[in-house]
Amino acid sequence: MGRMMNLLLFSLISFLSLISLVQSEDPYIYQTWIVNYTTLAPLGVPQKIITINGSIPGPKINCTSNNNIVINVFNNLDEPLLFTWNGIQQRKNSWQEGTLGTNCPIPPGKNYTYRFQVKDQIGTYFYYPTTSTHRAAGGYGLIAVHSRDLIPVPFDRPEDDYTVFVGDWYTKSHDTLKKFLDSGRSLARPDGVIINGKHGKGDGTDAPMFTMIPKKTYRYRFCNVGMKDSINVRIQGHTMKLVEVEGSHTVQNLYDSLDVHLGQCYSVLVTADQTPKDYYLVASTRFTKTELVSTATIRYVGGKGPASPVLPPAPMGTWAWSVNQFRSFRWNLTASAARPNPQGSYHYGKINITRTIKLVTNPAATVGGKRRFVVNGISHIDPETPLKLAEYYGVADKVFKYNLISDQPLDNIRNPTIAPNVISGTFRNFVEIIFENHDKSIQTWHLSGYSFFAVA
Ligand SMILES: *[C@@H]1O[C@H](CO)[C@@H](O)[C@H](O)[C@H]1NC(C)=O
Ligand SMILES: *[C@@H]1O[C@H](CO)[C@@H](O)[C@H](O)[C@H]1NC(C)=O
Ligand SMILES: *[C@@H]1O[C@H](CO)[C@@H](O)[C@H](O)[C@H]1NC(C)=O
Ligand SMILES: *[C@@H]1O[C@H](CO)[C@@H](O)[C@H](O)[C@H]1NC(C)=O
Ligand SMILES: *[C@@H]1O[C@H](CO)[C@@H](O)[C@H](O)[C@H]1NC(C)=O
Ligand SMILES: *[C@@H]1O[C@H](CO)[C@@H](O)[C@H](O)[C@H]1NC(C)=O
Repeated sequence: MGRMMNLLLFSLISFLSLISLVQSEDPYIYQTWIVNYTTLAPLGVPQKIITINGSIPGPKINCTSNNNIVINVFNNLDEPLLFTWNGIQQRKNSWQEGTLGTNCPIPPGKNYTYRFQVKDQIGTYFYYPTTSTHRAAGGYGLIAVHSRDLIPVPFDRPEDDYTVFVGDWYTKSHDTLKKFLDSGRSLARPDGVIINGKHGKGDGTDAPMFTMIPKKTYRYRFCNVGMKDSINVRIQGHTMKLVEVEGSHTVQNLYDSLDVHLGQCYSVLVTADQTPKDYYLVASTRFTKTELVSTATIRYVGGKGPASPVLPPAPMGTWAWSVNQFRSFRWNLTASAARPNPQGSYHYGKINITRTIKLVTNPAATVGGKRRFVVNGISHIDPETPLKLAEYYGVADKVFKYNLISDQPLDNIRNPTIAPNVISGTFRNFVEIIFENHDKSIQTWHLSGYSFFAVA
């Protein structure tokens, strides 16, 4: 019966896609990537860096809502490689999502073509390699999704669009970092901060990374692509007008500096309204014993004079400051096109929550010799057969068990179990997830492949 339904659905889908083919298809963007190691020395120490077509950051995926993206990736590393498209809602192809449960990594020396659509979404995202601590070695790049021409954007078209990838960085290779974790140790402290793959010393010797024509307004897209630390970003003598946070247009407040936490992306507008000369863009770690700093030079076209060596300091406040700043970010609810929420209403504030899941994590522990995190008593392990593949071939019951964890766990679970941790959900349910961190350090979650809204 189930098989019959699938067949029926399949022919219905093919029929529908035929119709849409006849109507008009959304445009395609094709890219080819050659991924290999390149020896670079961002912090002065030569190291093995994962580059795409020889560079870090990798190529920009510049696209418009509903574009189809086709990326043929050649893996010239000596290890399997898996990309995730952070923030892209995989409405059609959840198996393109790029985590081990959904996708197989690309074997060394082979290529694989990722295909996905940036359906009904706009904003700033980035891709990165998800397995084997590869992210600590680079391999990331921007995904900018522009609004379609007919949809108004709540600010004038900027003169140019700049990407600013900030992140902490280790001079140790990703293999060494992986060995640390696999032997029960922690990652230890990063060695520095880099901006777009480079470390700026702030001594006037670095070539300018960005240029601005006096009086013009620029969009800077900040993303924290690091491993561990939140990063504060600021520009000497300039304020930043926040216009977009992870795919939503915001109420346009002005900020002197912004805390960008791991995995987050913000768009700001900066107007070149100061004396024409050089200025430093500063990125520094937050909540760390030693502040790690990097700069990038912004040069006014036709300007004269170096940037002041006096760098603006990071905000004095710590946690409360950061949380308050985050609370000041508000969606502009009259901007952009709304789409109905999963229960069919256009009012997101009126959605009935169908399920509440509490995810409780305790400090990482050494389990079976490795450093492992535990969620509601289970430490996830990827089975040899990818979860999606097991479902597709109807052998899920031989590979893993659904719902090993409870939605409302006990606060302190001893003796964690190592198993694939899979929660099943119901189509169109609207789920509230509460994260509870019992660790002494920041925890960052990657809520992959779907759209989530931070509410509290
Ligand atoms: C990467 O390099 C390959 C081979 O030279 C080339 O065909 C491709 O267009 C490049 N991709 C990008 C995004 O520049
Ligand atoms: C890595 O790829 C880049 C760009 O495709 C190429 O220029 C470089 O020679 C390659 N490096 C190695 C070590 O193969
Ligand atoms: C990126 O895409 C937008 C929208 O299609 C376009 O206006 C812009 O010129 C593109 N930018 C680059 C650098 O290709
Ligand atoms: C590998 O690349 C070739 C040549 O570009 C392409 O024809 C083929 O479809 C790719 N294979 C996969 C699995 O994507
Ligand atoms: C919200 O967006 C609308 C529509 O583009 C715009 O007119 C309005 O000024 C924006 N409001 C704020 C507070 O940014
Ligand atoms: C939400 O629940 C209320 C009360 O049970 C019900 O009246 C309403 O129709 C529900 N709304 C939606 C969108 O399902």
